[in-house]
Amino acid sequence: MTTAIAHSFAPFSATQSFTPARNNPDVYVDTRMFRPQLQQLLATRPHISPSQTERFLLEAELMFQAFPEPIRRAVLELKNGLARYPFKVFPLMPTDPALPPTPLDSRRPRVEGAMMGEWLSGAFTRGLGEPFGYIQQNEGEIFQNNSPVKLHANAQSGESSATELWFHTDASFHPLPPAFVVLHCLRPDPAREAVTSFAALSDIMAQLTPRQRQVLREPRFLSDGVEYDYDDVNQRGNRMVKVPLVYGSEEDPFLAYDQDVHRPLDPEASDTMRALNLAMESVAQHVKLEAGDVAIFDNRRSIHKRSPFKASYDGNDRWCLLTYVAGNQIDSSREKRMPSRRRVLDVPAVMGFGMGM
Ligand SMILES: [Fe+2]
Repeated sequence: MTTAIAHSFAPFSATQSFTPARNNPDVYVDTRMFRPQLQQLLATRPHISPSQTERFLLEAELMFQAFPEPIRRAVLELKNGLARYPFKVFPLMPTDPALPPTPLDSRRPRVEGAMMGEWLSGAFTRGLGEPFGYIQQNEGEIFQNNSPVKLHANAQSGESSATELWFHTDASFHPLPPAFVVLHCLRPDPAREAVTSFAALSDIMAQLTPRQRQVLREPRFLSDGVEYDYDDVNQRGNRMVKVPLVYGSEEDPFLAYDQDVHRPLDPEASDTMRALNLAMESVAQHVKLEAGDVAIFDNRRSIHKRSPFKASYDGNDRWCLLTYVAGNQIDSSREKRMPSRRRVLDVPAVMGFGMGM
């Protein structure tokens, strides 16, 4: 039996001092001139509820196709790995003039039809790929309502507020993590304390030695449990597995890491994890999401965290829609492809195997 080394990091807080990325055009897409066009697009949306999932997502895809070209371009650059950073913020998208109170239970409020936020989240996710949910999270809801829940104020989840949500990739412990995530702020925390930080894997790797990069690729880390709201998985799967933190191709690797979940299994892995944590802090870009801001990130080429903030549980708290997006088949088969040949498979054919990519 292996024994994991205890946490080797002291999480930093981005709230103390940080340089906001709002003036960085590689992070913030300038959307100001397109607001009238987007308002018009939303005003003519059909009367379909998100509960009619496939019809709603088809209309959302059509809405994405009608977005102004520079917005579509920015989304597609991120989707295709051509953006400077594997995350972007589309600030101040149109918002519902009569937004319901922030839910106290992180569930969708009773609303007739679709909220503007659901249309916009739907459109951005359809630009990126296929939105999906996990049955363990709000019964598979596609557009998850992320708001502070009193009972979970100190949890390592999107329902927390009193504690920092440490650096993680979403569903790092899951065999099918989202390729992209759309985080759409409907209402910020009134005191504007919440800071979301993103770090690009390519920037992180550039801070590490070749040896450290190699150690991260070896199964010398224990995936010690899952987020509490995936608890069903515990009863079905092996929750104590040795994993690498970095995987995939040499030239364009993926990251699956959660500071709350993964533990180093030996002293060198521990030192490497410490170097990784420091690198993430040093290259992070920090944002404070405002009402209508849509942040999208590549969940395998970046890592993110959120600072603590004050919650009052009075309907005015921070409220974000969170949507997971599955990537394309080419990316999910990345390890079976030829080095440097993104679109060329190198895997033997197996008779009767019949498994898709
Ligand atoms: Fe997250």
